[in-house]
Amino acid sequence: MKQLSHAATAVACANIAFIKYWGQRDAHLTLPTNGSISMNLDGCLTETTVQCLPEAVEDSVWLALSGGEEVQAKGRQFERVIQQIERLRQLAGVSERVEVRSRNNFPSDAGIASSAAAFAALTRAAAAAFRLELDEAELSRLTRLSGSGSACRSIPAGFVEWFDDGTHAGSYAAQIAPPEHWNLVDIVAVISTEAKHVASTSGHSVATTSPYFPVRLEGIEQRLADVRQGILERDIQRLGQASEADAMSMHVIAMTAHPATMYWLPGTLAVMQAVQRWRVQDNLQSYWTIDAGPNVHVICEAKDAPEVEARLCELDAVQWTIVNGAGPEARLVG
Ligand code: PMV
Repeated sequence: MKQLSHAATAVACANIAFIKYWGQRDAHLTLPTNGSISMNLDGCLTETTVQCLPEAVEDSVWLALSGGEEVQAKGRQFERVIQQIERLRQLAGVSERVEVRSRNNFPSDAGIASSAAAFAALTRAAAAAFRLELDEAELSRLTRLSGSGSACRSIPAGFVEWFDDGTHAGSYAAQIAPPEHWNLVDIVAVISTEAKHVASTSGHSVATTSPYFPVRLEGIEQRLADVRQGILERDIQRLGQASEADAMSMHVIAMTAHPATMYWLPGTLAVMQAVQRWRVQDNLQSYWTIDAGPNVHVICEAKDAPEVEARLCELDAVQWTIVNGAGPEARLVG
């Protein structure tokens, strides 16, 4: 085995899906039941350093809290990181232990899916620390195998599609359009900062038990086409309508699977209804989407973002907001 003494630091964005990944064909390979489309979030970043330690006998993982203080990851959190490190170590044919240090630039208790940014940054940094030369598609496939499938969409820049053809080779993410293509904004309306009660991994594993799952899949190709075209033509209405429909469909699946999960809180519904009301009454073009939690992502064009954000902040249900534009690829910074 080779001996290395290397460190690499990478930064990656979280992403918000307009067409959701919800359900798996193959849990081991993290192969989804459908393709998905997202935008990287330039305001929600994870920075991760992977340091190879030739003398060390154990791996260690350190996570920074909001205040800057670092805590050592334990249990499942530690195992998930080290499983991904081990996958890359084997690919590189190296044996050294590592120290991993990771921090988010957004409050990690904000209930925003931070695992996508975390696993994209980890995979990018580890590949560099182990001197693996991988193209973007291969990096995306490897990131997908981390188990946080949506993380594979945080590898390319901007507006991104994760393809699904049922195979490992065909299941990776690629860019639809670069970040500068469209000044689209995602305003996260934070409703609750409590950790989600049902992890997305459990949601994926039971999705197909919903009687509505075939209905979701029937409509998915049309919604994917609408979102793709909406992005390419900068058509907020086309993108927004398809995104709202897809988020609703995902949550119907969650609510009707066995066991069923309701991710929304009363505040979630208040924001969804307000956004729809502003559209109908004032023609304010903003659209909601929601991941596996209660917080609402409100999508609009940059010209409308100050108005949408001001209105969101006036709602009792909204604790605070995070404003994001389309973000860059997972990249090395050191
Ligand atoms: O990548 P996971 O296993 O954290 O699942 C992501 C699930 C959603 O965020 C709800 C949808 C998506 O496509 O990002």
